[in-house]
Amino acid sequence: MTTQDIGIERKLQRALRRFSRQKRNLIPVLQAVQEKLGYLPRAAITAIAAYLNVPEVDVYGVVTFYNQFRLSPPGRHAVRVCLGTACHMKGGYITLDAWQRRLGVEKGQATPDGEFDLDTVACVGCCVMAPVTIIDNKPLARVDPTRVDGILLSYKLAKEGEGKP
Ligand code: FES
Repeated sequence: MTTQDIGIERKLQRALRRFSRQKRNLIPVLQAVQEKLGYLPRAAITAIAAYLNVPEVDVYGVVTFYNQFRLSPPGRHAVRVCLGTACHMKGGYITLDAWQRRLGVEKGQATPDGEFDLDTVACVGCCVMAPVTIIDNKPLARVDPTRVDGILLSYKLAKEGEGKP
């Protein structure tokens, strides 16, 4: 077991101890574990299933049904495409498609280099700026597919700048 695995195991056990071993606690347990670990690794799913005496397949069923749960680690930057009504009407799905193609991931996944993870959100309350993409909790206005490359480039340049003395 690696040091990282031990760290995950400790956080997991701390989260589990807060709940009684009842099946009805499955969603709150998943939320608590994800809050501690940032996502739900396979080992956590196995441990939760054992703790609550629920088949692992049922735990996966819940995790994949609800949008809030992640099976992969989050990226350094969280990209969230708003698909609320106003953003949808202004082409939110086309923007999502552009992000998916540019990042090379589907929604709910992180890029292999761990820089970005992509997901969708419901209305974030700034519909006049539709279509909106939120990056690290900062809403960006009128993000249509033509703006995706420029936004990504600005993050790439910022990262390169961080590496300079
Ligand atoms: S629908 Fe996207 S901000 Fe309201």
